[in-house]
Amino acid sequence: MLIHVDDLVPNMRLEHDIELSAGSFLITLKELPEGKLTEEVIGSIRRFASQLTPEQYKVKVVGDELVLEHLKEVLENDVKAIIKMIESGTDYPNFLSDNVLREKVERVMEKLVSNPDIIGNMYQFKLNTKSGVHQGNYLPDHCIRVTLLAIAVGLKLRWSIISLVNVGMAAILHDLGILETEVYPNFRKLDDFSPGELEAFIEEHQECSEKIFSAQKLTILPHTRNEIKHMLANHHRPDLGTSVQKTTLLLYLAELVDEMLAPMPHKIRYNFTQVQRQKLGKRFENRVGLMSLLLGLVKLFRGEGILWEMVQAIAQTFSMQELLVENYEEKLKKSSISALSNVPCPTRRPAGAPFPARFTVRTAARKNSPASMSARPG
Ligand SMILES: [Fe+2]
Ligand SMILES: [Fe+2]
Repeated sequence: MLIHVDDLVPNMRLEHDIELSAGSFLITLKELPEGKLTEEVIGSIRRFASQLTPEQYKVKVVGDELVLEHLKEVLENDVKAIIKMIESGTDYPNFLSDNVLREKVERVMEKLVSNPDIIGNMYQFKLNTKSGVHQGNYLPDHCIRVTLLAIAVGLKLRWSIISLVNVGMAAILHDLGILETEVYPNFRKLDDFSPGELEAFIEEHQECSEKIFSAQKLTILPHTRNEIKHMLANHHRPDLGTSVQKTTLLLYLAELVDEMLAPMPHKIRYNFTQVQRQKLGKRFENRVGLMSLLLGLVKLFRGEGILWEMVQAIAQTFSMQELLVENYEEKLKKSSISALSNVPCPTRRPAGAPFPARFTVRTAARKNSPASMSARPG
């Protein structure tokens, strides 16, 4: 199993001799009793990490219990860091402010990250994206946030643990296929794509994710395998008709919410179809704030069966259920106008005098309005 030098710990067993790009060996299996790494050897591997071959910063170790346990810990720490970031509410709207919900989400996540197949896939995904240096870990982080959000919304919808684990598994793996596309790792290319090219990119990476997953020998039931394949192959463009699986719809919405809210290396957002964008407006081709996004989803899916139930659950998860009121925007406008019309018109303000009450009222109204709760604009 390929592993990053930062993740090596003593007693992991090397699979091969370690070779340097200059042609010499850094360490051979013969030199290590049972091939087991020591602190000292790990130190020298890290010192020469940039000269390792065939891949810089990576070595092959035997995928035994110790490796699995350690990688599980690495991934659990990644999940914890993302939960902490969400809870801080500074870079992302906090959908885990309800402690009871957060604990339940954490428990489902723990179950997922205990699955050896998930550990292997998540870790390799993280490892492969590490080479996209300036892009950071944006793809694995996005996949973890989508998983947390899908589970949180699924819990609001009172789904069974089986459905939550299935949607979680697909959410973790949904963008594996992006690494196989021509765009990777230069995501900024997407900004120059025509609508047709963007659709081809969507189609291609959905298909790749499904193929990578299908090629693996996983210990899951055939029915579950098919359900996950369906989610992966349709995570951006599901058939919104009634026959579609509910887990695919939830992954679609959780993925869409995250891509519309989070910063990404590319400006363009391709979550909405051309028909949906015509209904919502051109600004939905780019990142928008939480309030705009939720109002957009309400506009698209109000009264649309299970999709509408999911949109309501998403709004509740973000504590923004007031947006679900019919004609919310018009009602908000009317209430602001009537609040202002009750304030007497001020006479000319003498130099140095405080601002008249009208300005104070407007500022206070804006501070308390749900608009101020939206995420930072993109
Ligand atoms: Fe995605
Ligand atoms: Fe995707």
